[in-house]
Parts: sequence; C-alpha cells; structure tokens
Amino acid sequence: MKSKTTIAIDGPVGAGKSTISREVARRLGFIYVDTGALYRTLGVYCDENGIDVGDDSATAEYLTQRKPDVSLRFVEGVQRVFAEGDDFTDKIRTPKASMLASRISANPAVRAYLLDLQRSFSEKESVVMDGRDIGTVVLPKADVKIFLTADAAERAKRRYDELVEKGIAADYEQVLANLNKRDYDDSHREHAPLKQAHDAVLVDTTGSDFEGSVEKVLGVINDVR
Ligand code: DC
Repeated sequence: MKSKTTIAIDGPVGAGKSTISREVARRLGFIYVDTGALYRTLGVYCDENGIDVGDDSATAEYLTQRKPDVSLRFVEGVQRVFAEGDDFTDKIRTPKASMLASRISANPAVRAYLLDLQRSFSEKESVVMDGRDIGTVVLPKADVKIFLTADAAERAKRRYDELVEKGIAADYEQVLANLNKRDYDDSHREHAPLKQAHDAVLVDTTGSDFEGSVEKVLGVINDVR
C-alpha cells in the first residue's frame, strides 16, 4: 500500500458526509478534514465584520486586503476551525451560517483563497476529506472518490433531528426547503459546482443506518484501493 492515501467524499447537504467520513477516517487511522467548516467559518467571519457575502467583489476585495487567517487544528483528534485565532467551531452550525457558507462558496475568489489550505492537508498525512468539489477540484488525483447521497426527504429529516438535538428551533418544511435551495445553488454555481466526479463511486445511503452507511463506504474504499 502507498505511504499516503487520499479519500475524497463529496455529496449534497445532509447525506451524512461529515459523520460518516469522520468515522471512516477514525477506523482507517487517517485524519478527517471537513472542508465545509472552512467555508462556514469564512462566511460567518466576513458577516461579523460587516461584509455582505452576497457581494462578490466586496468580499474578494476584503480577502485581498485583510487576508484573514482561517485555519483548522486538531485538538485531541477533533477538528476545530479558527478565524484570526478565534475558535469558530461552535457557531458555524446554525441555519444562518449554512446559508452564508453556501453563498460565499459561490465566489471564485473565496474558492481560490481556501484551495491551498485544503490541499496542504493531503500532503502531510493520509486523509479523508469531504465537501462538494474534493474529487473534482481539490484532490483530482485522490486514490478513492465517493459521491455520497440519499433521498432529499430523508436528508432533511436527519438535518432536522440534528438541529432539534442541539436545541436549535427548527421546522421540518423549512429545513427541507433550505436543503433544496442549498443543493440547487451548490450544483448550479459557475465555479466548482457540486457534481459527481467521473471516476467517483456513487454511494446511496437512503434507508441505511449509520453503521450500514459506514460499512458501505469502507467497502468501496477496500474495493478501489
Ligand atoms: O458541507 P457543509 O454543509 O458544511 O458546507 C457548507 C457550504 O459550503 C455548502 O453549502 C457548500 C459549501 N462548500 C463548498 O462549496 N465546497 C466544499 N468543498 C465544501 C463546502
């Protein structure tokens, strides 16, 4: 086996990418990188600093001038995200942060800003990285590419349950509408849209529980490697 292995996992909102990828990485002894957390952090950071993330040129200008430091560190094996040294991990999971991330991620200047940081993780260690464009843009030479999906109603239900569990007020219909909007925007943007890489394996977790989904993904990894 090669000394370093790279596994790219892409897919729509709520397909279980982060929980499944984290567990797969743990079982393989690889690091796990959640790239959505970087877009979320930059979206929330810019918003907090008065930047309208819907304005591509204002956002690009801000990044060029201020070059905010966005970083990802592993604290006791758990990924935490920082902007200018402040820990953003606990404030990037709200519905507002999701929409800010989806909007800011359509900006090509933002995608370029975060590209090297994402790639740098795969240079040091074996990695499971999840996002929207990992197999297509960030790690086009990944050893294994998986496109993880599930039926939209089931994904919305999982997302709704997660919010309720965290004590965040949620309405299922609203969660489903937000999820459909984000998927539509992520798939139809001009730069690095969400799509299955031509050499990615499709894994559909509709009807599978967590353990079943993890096993499906590990099965593909073992077949392809
Ligand atoms: O995976 P997530 O829900 O945390 O991602 C938040 C948003 O960030 C998502 O709507 C699209 C964007 N994103 C992206 O464009 N590219 C990635 N590699 C990861 C996330």
